[in-house]
Amino acid sequence: MINSALMNVMTAAALKAGRGLKRDFGEVENLQVSVKGPGDFVTIADKKSEKIIFDELSKARPGYGFVLEEGGIVAGADKSHVWYVDPLDGTTNFLHGLPIFAVSIGLEREGQMVAGVIYNPATDDLFIAEKGQGAYYNNHRIRVAARRDVSDGLVATGIPPLAKAAIHPRFKAELSSVMTRAGGVRRLGAASIDLAFVAAGRFDGFWERGLQSWDMAAGLVLVREAGGYVTDADGGTDIFATGSVCCGNEHIHKQLLELVKKA
Ligand code: IPD
Ligand code: CA
Ligand code: CA
Repeated sequence: MINSALMNVMTAAALKAGRGLKRDFGEVENLQVSVKGPGDFVTIADKKSEKIIFDELSKARPGYGFVLEEGGIVAGADKSHVWYVDPLDGTTNFLHGLPIFAVSIGLEREGQMVAGVIYNPATDDLFIAEKGQGAYYNNHRIRVAARRDVSDGLVATGIPPLAKAAIHPRFKAELSSVMTRAGGVRRLGAASIDLAFVAAGRFDGFWERGLQSWDMAAGLVLVREAGGYVTDADGGTDIFATGSVCCGNEHIHKQLLELVKKA
């Protein structure tokens, strides 16, 4: 377990926001059958979660800046620290009553991601990592999977939704390239959970384009602290700028990257 003050702060914020989301998730089922559907309700749940996280983190670490999915950039007096917050990753799953969603909080210090917390309140799964201290799943140390060949592995990805139709052709080529070599391909619908599952060795690899910093911030720390390799989907280091990611253990990362790049 990581017993740092920072982890306590981040975990407390994620659990508090998660408790609210779990209550709201219960309501979503009832709204599913209404003609209007649960759309507006989910938007409110998302914003409530972000407010809880913002308030908790601001109280505990005054002056740190924020990159909030809903609220945008909030500059802080302390220029060396920035929180990246996705208050509800996997919104579409949440909306459809699928229990695969999470609160995701990452901390950047001097331009480097140093801590991450991903919490799925529906399953009470907590993934945490801090630079130099390892990655943990519900108090157990986690490591990336050891498989050396992608043909034995399970690889996750994200299918760009209709709103990102511009990247559909590229995605189709990449999927076609990966599915002809990988043991299997999955799409969970929450990038933070995809990354946490790579850290926990459940997935051997993961790649996706069209993501935002808050989708990946916490997960990057988890994968690295679990011994994994992470780059953008072209092998570069600027993951936030390209909005793309490719990860796995040393071997899978290399093979997956080759498959994605040659697509
Ligand atoms: C989305 C999820 C999904 C990914 C999308 C993201 P949201 O985040 O992480 O897995 O494929 O690109 O936008 O909208 O549910 O927070
Ligand atoms: Ca997200
Ligand atoms: Ca979100």
